[in-house]
Amino acid sequence: MATKVTKIGVLTSGGDSPGMNAAIRAVVRTGIYHELEVYGVMRGYSGMIDDDIFRMESRSVANIIQRGGTILKCARSDEFREPAGRAKAYENLKKRGIDALVVIGGDGSFKGAQKFSNEFDIPCIGLPGTIDKDIAGTDFTIGFDTAVNTAVEAIDKIRDTADAHDRLFVVEVMGRDAGYIALHSGIATGAENILIPETKTNIDELIASLGEKEKRRKLVNLVVVAEGDEFGGGNEIARIVKKRLPNIDTRVCILGHIQRGGAPTCLDRLIASRMGYHAVESLMQGRYNVMVGIVNNKLHYTPLDHAIKAKQKLSNQWLKIVKILAS
Ligand code: F6P
Repeated sequence: MATKVTKIGVLTSGGDSPGMNAAIRAVVRTGIYHELEVYGVMRGYSGMIDDDIFRMESRSVANIIQRGGTILKCARSDEFREPAGRAKAYENLKKRGIDALVVIGGDGSFKGAQKFSNEFDIPCIGLPGTIDKDIAGTDFTIGFDTAVNTAVEAIDKIRDTADAHDRLFVVEVMGRDAGYIALHSGIATGAENILIPETKTNIDELIASLGEKEKRRKLVNLVVVAEGDEFGGGNEIARIVKKRLPNIDTRVCILGHIQRGGAPTCLDRLIASRMGYHAVESLMQGRYNVMVGIVNNKLHYTPLDHAIKAKQKLSNQWLKIVKILAS
């Protein structure tokens, strides 16, 4: 493993998430503070393979902390999964003397980083950039807070129209295989039911509880469903509800990619800045192949392979709270 880092590459990979720009900014400016050369890699690992790499200065990251998306763009690269693609990527780093990488992305991106680092002796640091919050070793992922706030704003609006028409709305939110966006946005909007992949969805129980609420003329019903729920998301749940409870006027709304866009919240800007700063500090201190996370407001370093394998554990307490508050 290389001992002293002099030139670092930074890239954003996988699905974009609000706050990635704040993290890039922190990596670039902290790197320059330490007199390192910092290189931006466009479109994640694809840019490494295609040699789409450029030198970044402090001014390259001016005026981006408040912007969603990522100035480095994002991609999921199939070619990087192949040894030949990774070898090509390595040659492009080597010719510039880039000797370390900061990878901002989710678990798929970390898998790539881990493999690349093992094969070519390049130190890598991972920063958890995903709206899904599906990575172990951190209380926050960059973008989650913004995505949840976007979902909350949208669901509040849906509730207004649901209320006006005495309708039931099934709202599907993102999260891939994780239910955190659904859980947090569902609690914050007072949803009557929240369906998430981490718990078994009992459809009979759902129908019984909606039917019972209808009987006692509880007017507004909001069901928030994670896209990864075992029943296949909002459309399927709405279809079943319509079939079994035809008296309830039911609509479905898939929030989709609006959850990935928009200006990052203050929290996302803060954690992205803190994590980006510590990514470079970590490289300077010779701490390699870890993901920088925050646990109980303290910096927390998780070996990349652990961050990939382990998932966050969902607290049972939240599930109990949902049941009691929605009754
Ligand atoms: O991982 C982030 C995420 O937005 C998931 O919540 C979602 O399942 C997926 O990416 C969507 O991916 P794509 O951008 O390929 O449609």
